[in-house]
Amino acid sequence: MARKFFVGGNWKCNGTAEEVKKIVTTLNEAEVPSEDDVEVVVSPPFVFLTLVKTLLRPDFSIAAQNCWVRKGGAFTGEVSAEMLINLGIPWVILGHSERRQLLNESDDFVGDKVAYALIQGLKVIACVGETLEQRESGATMKVVAAQTEAIFDKVSNWSNIVLAYEPVWAIGTGKVATPAQAQEVHSELRKWLHDNVGPEVAASTRIIYGGSVSGANCKELATKPDVDGFLVGGASLKPEFIEIIKSATLKQNA
Ligand code: PGA
Repeated sequence: MARKFFVGGNWKCNGTAEEVKKIVTTLNEAEVPSEDDVEVVVSPPFVFLTLVKTLLRPDFSIAAQNCWVRKGGAFTGEVSAEMLINLGIPWVILGHSERRQLLNESDDFVGDKVAYALIQGLKVIACVGETLEQRESGATMKVVAAQTEAIFDKVSNWSNIVLAYEPVWAIGTGKVATPAQAQEVHSELRKWLHDNVGPEVAASTRIIYGGSVSGANCKELATKPDVDGFLVGGASLKPEFIEIIKSATLKQNA
């Protein structure tokens, strides 16, 4: 089953309104492969979601960077899945390692969030990934399988989930996983999906790589059979994001 190449841009907690407008202008003017060949989703901070939605070209989509675990109410500072739906935001990133590590989001909590967001009708970029210590102790697959299982346990329909493998040691460090390291974990994750969810879900779920992806290193990564795209942080704020989107064509030729 063909998996459409997916490129997400995670802008994290960056930008002023002026800078956001500049990034959107660059994206709008870019010549990129058609939406039949690549799905592009950018993820601005909450406060700029409406601005980006108004300005962004219609063939690119938008994700929030988080949402609350259940229905809204007396949860100061939170944004609910219902609010994102109400604004017409189709995607949300959940389980990013920065939230797992800095805000102590547990595997279970992330699983609950993914399940609730899906029920409300959002599509989810669900992030998993090991720390350097976990990799060096040989626990990579155990960790990412446990993170994936916590989501799988609570979800019955995987068609609106993109799984993002983002090794924590590669995020924002300039230390990208080698294509072989990425392929190894992606193929293990697909095997995990095959054995625990089923062959159809394993064949159709996009597993994207994140962690110091750049215009230069995306090309070789994109040709790996189980790398179905990227979740890009730092480079998504720069014009080189366009190069990363274009790596979708390498995938087709691979
Ligand atoms: P990075 O971030 O590309 O800046 O390493 C990736 C991410 O956190 O999604």
